[in-house]
Amino acid sequence: MHAIVIAAQGGPEVLEYVERPDPTPAAGEVVVDVAASGVNFIDIYHRSGAYPLPLPTVIGSEGAGVVSAVGVDTAGVAVGDTVAWASYLGSYAEKAVVPAAQVVPVPEAVPADLAAAVMLQGMTAQYLTHSTHEVKPGETVLVHAGAGGMGQLLIQIAKLRGAKVIATTSTAAKEKLAREAGADEVLRYDDFADALRGKVDVVYDGVGATTFDGGLKVLRRRGLMALYGAASGPVPPVDPQRLNAAGSLFLTRPKLADHIAERDELLWRASDLFGWIASGELNVNVSQRYPLAEAARAQEDLAARRTTGKLLLVP
Ligand SMILES: NC(=O)c1ccc[n+]([C@@H]2O[C@H](COP(=O)([O-])OP(=O)(O)OC[C@H]3O[C@@H](n4cnc5c(N)ncnc54)[C@H](OP(=O)(O)O)[C@@H]3O)[C@@H](O)[C@H]2O)c1
Repeated sequence: MHAIVIAAQGGPEVLEYVERPDPTPAAGEVVVDVAASGVNFIDIYHRSGAYPLPLPTVIGSEGAGVVSAVGVDTAGVAVGDTVAWASYLGSYAEKAVVPAAQVVPVPEAVPADLAAAVMLQGMTAQYLTHSTHEVKPGETVLVHAGAGGMGQLLIQIAKLRGAKVIATTSTAAKEKLAREAGADEVLRYDDFADALRGKVDVVYDGVGATTFDGGLKVLRRRGLMALYGAASGPVPPVDPQRLNAAGSLFLTRPKLADHIAERDELLWRASDLFGWIASGELNVNVSQRYPLAEAARAQEDLAARRTTGKLLLVP
């Protein structure tokens, strides 16, 4: 089988498309013939060294496909099942080894590639709107990078929950996509802090360095800053006194792994997404599909802000 392997962390050139022996599952593991693998910022951090990893390794953190082999102690998963997973390394490959406890069954109404497309960003958007904060009708939420993979999902799910959604984007073309996803208002990064001062209940910020300070300004008294990413770079250390001065604000820096560690939670979040896709309530915008061998180009496009919606690698 072919896979994208890194032997050292570094630039996109460390992503090598290589042939490897087909994997065999150990106890508790299944092998999945990958239909599609999602491309995410965390893959870039795994590649660059921002997140250290034991090497060499296949990278890629979400995928879906058909189970082709099972080890012992994998009750509930059988050869031929269509499954999906997130937060487990090794999806940039024709065959991935995944713990049975981390795969979820994909219902027939959901194509495997769409399942792959929503496991990481979709479950993140689900936990941000249902657990980090339960978005309620009438609330105003701000979603940065509204045309991005996370952004388009967050906008739609916050709208499903009845919120007023304001988004930011860098260009008019991206603004159009954010509006199509359901944003009630779309602003540029230079404008939002003044335009929204004191009006927002929750800020969903995956951009980080360039947006964080403005986000604190737009929150209402006792509002919540959900800082879930750092597409523009990490936010420098924050003095807690700033939260006090800005109106007893809440600040959290959540991650997906802590929201799907319990199997019940994993199944709840995945089944919410599959249900919304099947009912037509959630439109998953897969904007680009790259051959697996072109993983480096996909990562470069994502990091350089050239993309919108979801990127998939197809073996
Ligand atoms: N914590 C979690 O559980 C979790 C899970 C999934 C993703 N994330 C994080 O969510 C963030 C978004 O991920 P995504 O995959 O959905 O990416 P994305 O939003 O599709 O792409 C990033 C977007 O951020 C905006 N951006 C603003 N400044 C940027 C800069 N200097 N460089 C690059 N992009 C910039 C760009 O949109 P504009 O051109 O419109 O500004 C760009 O398209 C990432 O930080 C990721 O790590 C966190």
